[in-house]
Amino acid sequence: MSSAPTEDPKSWRQTKRWFRDHPELGKPGEIPTGPMMSEEYYQRERKLLWPHVWLMVGRVEEIPEAGQFFIKDIPTCDATLIVVRGRDGKIRSFHNVCTHRGAAICWEKSGEKGKVNAFACPYHGFTFDLEGKLSWVPDEENFYDLKKEELGLKSVLTDIWEGFIFIHMDPNPRETLKEYLGEIGTGLTDYPFQDTPYFYEYKAVVRCNWKVLMGGFLENYHTQALHAGARTRAVTNENPYSHNFDIKLHDKHRWISLYRSPDQKPTKAGEIAFRAGRSSKDASVVNSDKWWKLHKSFNINNIFPNFQLNVVNGAWFRHLFWPLGVDSVLWESRMYYPKAKNASERFFQEYARVASRDIMLEDGNVSERSQAGLKSGAITKWVLQDEEVAIQHFNKVVADYAGPWTSEMSR
Ligand code: FES
Ligand SMILES: [Fe+2]
Repeated sequence: MSSAPTEDPKSWRQTKRWFRDHPELGKPGEIPTGPMMSEEYYQRERKLLWPHVWLMVGRVEEIPEAGQFFIKDIPTCDATLIVVRGRDGKIRSFHNVCTHRGAAICWEKSGEKGKVNAFACPYHGFTFDLEGKLSWVPDEENFYDLKKEELGLKSVLTDIWEGFIFIHMDPNPRETLKEYLGEIGTGLTDYPFQDTPYFYEYKAVVRCNWKVLMGGFLENYHTQALHAGARTRAVTNENPYSHNFDIKLHDKHRWISLYRSPDQKPTKAGEIAFRAGRSSKDASVVNSDKWWKLHKSFNINNIFPNFQLNVVNGAWFRHLFWPLGVDSVLWESRMYYPKAKNASERFFQEYARVASRDIMLEDGNVSERSQAGLKSGAITKWVLQDEEVAIQHFNKVVADYAGPWTSEMSR
């Protein structure tokens, strides 16, 4: 094999092909840097964006049995949620706030799990059932006209898409989850996510604005320069700047199909790992009859605002980006694999995990250095080329919610 597939009508050989198709994005390639540094703009995002979008918080396999729950912080809304499976099998989310005097009921940290028969508040012992109803109050007779039926845990709207649990902080959202996801939600219908329940996880706080970190996940232009380890996978003589196979800009979300070199030359360790792991590359995901939908090698589903779902052969990744402040973001990354059938498959997974970690360190590091550069005020806009079109689209959707940047806003 020497040449890359060319059946795609939008061949990667072309230049200036994406912006041309999207006049609604406005002038190609100019993004103000103000919203990446401005506390005032960050507060606009907190008010106008985060409480009005669907947010992915976990998967149904994490809490398969009644009473199993996990805790999830939603820092942009100052909220902590309990996500729990009820006795009826339904998954619900509640504010982790006691209706007596506001204490946290579960003291687990964000991401931690547990299993209970009921939730008892550690402060005075108010007890709530798995469906959130206040079921027991110590010394109840001593309260005046206590309306227990009105003092259940405060619920948060919850819905499921392909096994992913989403929440919405607004009890009366503009759109259902299905409407919100739109076309991107149909592209992965029946993808066998549940067949790969094992994951490796990395979490990091990166000292940059969440949109700066996200920028590196919306283009592949940087691979040839930044990711030396991944260069042979993404860069060839015929496609030296790793133009993407395809990009689709949806209403709020975006889908990118990355180029992968047909002549990929792995490193020595990589060669051994890929040989050992061949059978895991043939695993259930690849055998799905829907695989054709995921054509090419690495597909990015960037689901607004902070959920990136990457699908590759035999595995999938997901990233979540949770802003902690204007220049600080919690990055939670998980790589899901099928259960290794033998030691060599395990070795392959371990190799892939470490290779991904190295790439992610490069992405985090350059994002912090970019934030520092922006802060100096030396530049006031990002200049984008055609293959970075998804960055412009993403920032336009941010502005659709939080409003346009104006120079009167404080930096
Ligand atoms: S604050 Fe929870 S029982 Fe008092
Ligand atoms: Fe990268």
